[in-house]
Amino acid sequence: MGRLDGKLALVTGGASGIGRSICLNFAKEGATIICNDITVEAAQKVLADCGQAKEGLAVKADVSKSRQVAAMFAKVQKKYGRLDVLVNNAGIGLDNPVIRARFNKVLTQQQGEIAKDGKVRTALEATQRLSDADWDRMLGVHLNGTFYCTREALKLMEPQRSGKIVNIASICGMTGCAGAPHYSAAKAGIMGFTRSVAREVIVKGVFVNAIAPGYIDTPMTEAVSDAVRRALEMATPAGRFGSPQDVANLALYLASGESDFVVGQVISPNGGYVIA
Ligand SMILES: NC(=O)c1ccc[n+]([C@@H]2O[C@H](COP(=O)([O-])OP(=O)(O)OC[C@H]3O[C@@H](n4cnc5c(N)ncnc54)[C@H](O)[C@@H]3O)[C@@H](O)[C@H]2O)c1
Repeated sequence: MGRLDGKLALVTGGASGIGRSICLNFAKEGATIICNDITVEAAQKVLADCGQAKEGLAVKADVSKSRQVAAMFAKVQKKYGRLDVLVNNAGIGLDNPVIRARFNKVLTQQQGEIAKDGKVRTALEATQRLSDADWDRMLGVHLNGTFYCTREALKLMEPQRSGKIVNIASICGMTGCAGAPHYSAAKAGIMGFTRSVAREVIVKGVFVNAIAPGYIDTPMTEAVSDAVRRALEMATPAGRFGSPQDVANLALYLASGESDFVVGQVISPNGGYVIA
């Protein structure tokens, strides 16, 4: 018997990395998968990998656009008429190449300075260089996307008086990550949103929790330079980046009945990078 037998789960940004791993993990445990991403082909490929090309659903939607999110949930309502699990996973990293190149260059420079005499002299200057567009896009995908999808999911979950919502935050929302003020703010926002909505909807039988992963090996972290990666691994007591499966295991627990006394929590699989 699977831990999610008979359950219907929607995973946003399910075509890659952590989201893909969550789709595969949930499918293995008996859930029917609705895989969302910005291209339908990528989502369909994951459904096929789950062995659910027919019973599952691949939906193209940009989660930062409320109309596209509403249209996605209308498709879910039409095909299934319910929803048991929502994982708000869709996200972007430092995908502006100018910002990313400077981030890798300055952090590598800082490593050299630390190795030389322990004193960092080169500043990131990330916040003063950040454009309105990069700020808005980051908050749009992560924070607005989480809100838009949660709002629509609750319209299905509250009347059925059951549901599990798992929001993917980050250690950057807990400690702040230098060079990523917009990402850190968006993830901290997701944590506050999680705690508020969890208190509100538990009376309707809907559970809301968040996962705040540490550094995980996915396409998002491929852009990290070797020097920065080494420094991050050294700062992680477990000595390694996590795998998408490390996060998917926790998502499975939070999506299943095993977590029925866990409400509004932020749980952080991070190899000891943050211990609180
Ligand atoms: N990789 C890490 O180290 C790490 C650490 C902490 C948190 N996270 C978070 O985990 C989540 C998944 O990240 P990942 O590392 O698997 O990255 P990834 O780049 O491998 O996957 C992200 C997926 O989200 C999709 N996506 C992006 N924008 C979207 C949008 N507007 N609408 C719908 N889908 C969209 C992408 O197409 C992609 O398939 C993100 O929220 C990320 O911030 C990642």
